[in-house]
This record gives sequence, C-alpha cells and structure tokens, in this order.
Amino acid sequence: MRPGKSRPIVIDLLAEDFHEHAHTVYDRLRAQSPVTFVELPQQPGRGFWMITGYTAADTALREKRLANDPRALLSPAQRAARAAARIPGPPNTMLISDPPEHTRLRRAAQRAFTSRSVTAMHPVMLRHAERLLDHAEQAARDGDGTVDLLHAYAYPLSLTVLGEILGFPAAWHAGLHDLAVRAATVSTPLSGPDPLLRDRLDGYTRDLVLLKRQDPGDDLVSRLAHPESDREALSDGELGAMIGLLVAAGFETSASLIASATLSLLTDPPQWAALRAEPELAAAAVEETMRYWGPVESATMRHAVAPFTLGDKRIETGDRVLVFPAAANRDPAHVRDPHRFDIHREPRPHLGFSGGIHNCLGAALARTEVRFALTTLIARWPRLRLDAHPADLRWRSGMGLRGLRRLPVRP
Ligand code: HEM
Repeated sequence: MRPGKSRPIVIDLLAEDFHEHAHTVYDRLRAQSPVTFVELPQQPGRGFWMITGYTAADTALREKRLANDPRALLSPAQRAARAAARIPGPPNTMLISDPPEHTRLRRAAQRAFTSRSVTAMHPVMLRHAERLLDHAEQAARDGDGTVDLLHAYAYPLSLTVLGEILGFPAAWHAGLHDLAVRAATVSTPLSGPDPLLRDRLDGYTRDLVLLKRQDPGDDLVSRLAHPESDREALSDGELGAMIGLLVAAGFETSASLIASATLSLLTDPPQWAALRAEPELAAAAVEETMRYWGPVESATMRHAVAPFTLGDKRIETGDRVLVFPAAANRDPAHVRDPHRFDIHREPRPHLGFSGGIHNCLGAALARTEVRFALTTLIARWPRLRLDAHPADLRWRSGMGLRGLRRLPVRP
C-alpha cells in the first residue's frame, strides 16, 4: 500500500473543541500535502482523503470520477441483486445523486432560486428583518438590555425566508423553528440526526406535501406538487426528500453566516464603522465571511468510481474524498494573509458555496439574505456591541458545519 493510505493521520474532527483550533490543523496538513489520508479515531480503518489545498479542492469538486451517490460503486450484479430483493433505498436528493438523476432533481427546484426569484424576495426579507429587530429591541428593553442575535434574529430570519419560499404556513413557523434549531444542535455526523426530532421534521414535510397537493399556493412546493409536465414530476418521496434537503441545506447555514459576519465585524470596530459609513460594502463583507468563516466546513463525501491523480496523490477506485472548503479558502497559495478578516481585500474566488455541478443552489438567496440582514442591523443598531469577550464565544461541535452557539449583543 502507498505510505499515505497505510499510515493515515488520525484527526478527531468530532472533538468538542475542534472548531476552536481547526485552522491550525488544516495549516499543518496542507503544509505536508494538500491531499492527505486521514481517519477519525471513532472510525478506525475507514479513512478518507482530506483536501485542504485550494487547487486540489477546486479540481476535486469538478472531478467526474468522484460520485456523490455511494451506490455508484455497486457492481451491475449487486444492483441486480438489490433490485431483485426490492431493497428500498431512501428517496434520493440532488446532493447525494449524480447525473442524470442529479440533473433531473436539480432542474425541478432551480426556478425558485434564480436571481429573478431572489429579487422578488427583497421586500419579504426586509419586512421580516425589521420585524425581528422590533421584537428583539422590545425584549432587550424588557429584559437585561441584551439580545442573543443568533436566536432572536439570524435563525428566525433564515427560517421565515425559507418558509415563504417553500410555502410553510406562518402558523407552523414557531414550532418548526424550535424543532429545526434543536435538530441542528443535537445531531452528530456519527449518530445522524436525533431520530425523534427527525421524525417530527419529516412529519412537517409530509403535511406540507399533502397540504400543497390539496390547496396549492404561490410557492415552490405547490409548483413541485403540480408539475406542468410528467418530465418534471417528482414522487411524494422525492418531494419530501427535496423539502428536507432545502431546510437542512439552507436554514442553519444562512443563519450561521449572519452571526459569523456580525461577530467578525463587531470584533473589528474600524470594519464595522466602514460598513456603517458605506452600506454598499455589505456584499464584500458577506464574501469575506464566506471565505473566512464559511458555514460549510467540509463538503459531502465523494466516492472515486475510477482511479485518477489529485495533487501529489493517486486516488483509487472506491476511495473516499472529502473536500474542506474552509481549509481551501485559507490556502496561502490562493489568498494573501489568509487568516486576516478584511472586507476591503481584493476579491478572490472561494469555495464556500462549493463548485462543480453540486455548487450551492441557494447561493444567490443566501448572499442576498445575509446582505439584507447586515444592512438592516447596522442601520437600526449602529452602536451595536458584543456582550461577551470574543474568546468566550464558542462554535458548535460536530463535523461539517461551523456555527456559533450564541451571539450575545447589546443594541
Ligand atoms: C450561507 C449559506 C449557505 C452555504 C454556505 C451553503 C453551502 C453549500 C455547499 C458548500 C454546498 C455543496 C456541498 C457539496 O458540494 O458537497 C451546497 C449545496 C446545496 N445548497 Fe447550499 N449553502 C447555503 C445556503 C443555501 C440555501 C439558502 C439553500 C436553499 C434554500 C441551499 C440549497 C442547497 C442545495 C439544494 C444544495 C445541493 C446542490 C446540488 O447538489 O446540486 N443552500 N450549499
């Protein structure tokens, strides 16, 4: 065996405090090679290639010999046996599928995420941002003067915008919010989502499909439930899985970006002041936060369906490959002074929304929503300050996503 695979580097990506020192680990690995074979202490013998360099990450995300669906590795005989045994697979989502299935599933949803659709959402985003800040201001006045910006603003804004796009009735928002936040907080990549919470979220999804089949409105789920042609039709299972993916992919990520951007700006008062003086800088602040503290730390696991070379390594059929956009975005070979947050820096492409065919479907929506969230916040609360020492703020544990646990501020 090659040295890399025979002696994997053991990294505890699941450690409670991994996100506090993740970049030290990424820098050390990248300095050895942008493509290193690692394994988790919890999963001995199940290593994977960890990609920390920008060029290798960009290449891997576009590599056709890497499949997102692990079933791509099944032999024709195994497929036939599964089909004969009628082993029911879970309904597939676009994220865990490959062309042509990926193309079909993605096409079904993409109309809701074009720049035109996002522009139509501007008034909705503004209205909800203002409303949430009204509530938070009142709560701060009635309480001790502080607000947890993550729970009072970022999470509910993200969920409400998503709810409007998908067509969740407003009366469901409070229950769904509680459930989605708890599901995001307690699930771990090894145990998966908590089964009880998962069941309840699935219940919301099933009810939404039923509701929109009977009583369609002007929203994505109604359009998917009443396709214009058979070509666009999704089964109930696929439709439910699609809603689940959109909530999972879009809710917590956008909220985390709002919180991380706010934290980065508040800990650097001249940059907060610059944005206050020039709100047009908000788009640059969003991109820089995506690069510096992007909510997606590692992408979906890919599976090699044929051998190829990546960086200085040979990837064999059946190998698993995990790209870390967070590490790639701070590769000093790609961006100068990578560990400095700087909204004025010369724009460089980043992989925070991934690349290749699985690039984030909701990128335009997320960018716009977070930009509105920041400009509304800064206009309403120009003297906003943190109510904690930055070193006391903690990232949630768990592999894959980077999100704060809370963000206490004083309006
Ligand atoms: C700041 C917020 C967001 C970030 C950082 C983000 C990041 C990402 C990344 C990195 C991927 C690709 C993962 C991979 O290649 O394995 C992805 C895929 C995806 N995202 Fe996002 N996302 C965000 C918001 C959203 C929103 C708001 C939605 C929609 C409501 C959304 C929907 C999707 C979907 C459907 C995919 C799968 C695309 C495909 O497989 O073709 N995302 N996102």
